[in-house]
Amino acid sequence: MSTQKIQIFDTTLRDGEQVPGCKLNMQEKLVIARQLEQLGVDVIEAGFPVSSPGDFEAVKAIAAQTKEATVCGLSRAVANDILTAAEALKGAKRPRIHTGIGTSDLHVTYKLRITRDEVIARAVEAVKLAKRYVEDVEFYAEDAGRTDNVFLARVCEAAVAAGATVLNIPDTTGYCLPEEYGAKIKYLYENVKGIDKVCLSTHCHNDLGLATANSVAGVINGARQIECTINGVGERAGNTALEEVVMILRQHPYLNLTTGINSRMLTETSALVSHMMRMPVQPNKAIVGANAFSHSSGIHQDGMIKHRETYEIIDPREVGVDQSSIVLTARSGRAALAYRLQKLGYKFDKPTIDKAYTSFLHVADVKKEVVDEDLHVLVEQQNLVAAN
Ligand code: KIV
Ligand code: ZN
Repeated sequence: MSTQKIQIFDTTLRDGEQVPGCKLNMQEKLVIARQLEQLGVDVIEAGFPVSSPGDFEAVKAIAAQTKEATVCGLSRAVANDILTAAEALKGAKRPRIHTGIGTSDLHVTYKLRITRDEVIARAVEAVKLAKRYVEDVEFYAEDAGRTDNVFLARVCEAAVAAGATVLNIPDTTGYCLPEEYGAKIKYLYENVKGIDKVCLSTHCHNDLGLATANSVAGVINGARQIECTINGVGERAGNTALEEVVMILRQHPYLNLTTGINSRMLTETSALVSHMMRMPVQPNKAIVGANAFSHSSGIHQDGMIKHRETYEIIDPREVGVDQSSIVLTARSGRAALAYRLQKLGYKFDKPTIDKAYTSFLHVADVKKEVVDEDLHVLVEQQNLVAAN
């Protein structure tokens, strides 16, 4: 089976930026968009042009600056939204309008207060209107995760017939289980007329911590685009983390799914977005957290020193981290202490290491982490003598 390319649709600047306190100014958005393009994303969702004059201008400026990636603007299935998105995207080399409407019974009954047939009519009208301005039109069925599959397939079929090129199936509330979301994508793949001509897209939220798992289930079942954000930023518990899905596909080559992302730029991109959004990355965050390649327990450190792959599935250089780190704490063993002392230029025989280790444990019990400076002091205070 030949390897299939999964399109990476980054929505850090749209869904990601909806996080309270993470608002970016125009300059910051341009810098992030440039970084995303260098990283190799296929689509940059630059904003929601009708939402504010600032967002309109940002989408316009990103459209003008971007050379290779598709630039996308969000709209509701509302004529003025679509016209405003089309206007903001005028200067884009590859423009895409992203339009859609809620499809779950909850959205149809309580939010939209219209009938299911009216939802389909509005979806068709929106896609047809967007199509007058751009060739590439993505349709989203908001709350597809909680939409009954038979109705969802009807809406998707109508959107495809109206000219949609991409069908986005958002799990807007992060409700689905991976099996359920994967089955939904499979059902659409098998039941929507014309689906073979368009691209199915995942868009998963992380309310139950399943956004990444659901996105992967989606592509295993036929989706060919993943919508995600750097560091998984996004409303509430966030969106699918770009770095996670990219590395999952890379670490599991038998899936025959690949992306165009330069994984060596993941760590610097994560740091840039975290800094500009003033949103720290949790230390234990997969792939880009400060502790993702750091080892502190004695058992793991001993294995790591002997052979890195005993406790690491990713070579840190693959994601732009120079090397794994061996952190000295009260849980560390002699092997780790000897290793770190050696890195500082101290080569001791076994009895000396034993002596150093006893002193080290006293320091480690007081301090959370024993750093290089502490080791130099320890060697001096204990008068440790190097082996010949
Ligand atoms: O989560 C969602 O449903 C969305 C759509 C607007 C695409 O972000
Ligand atoms: Zn979303």
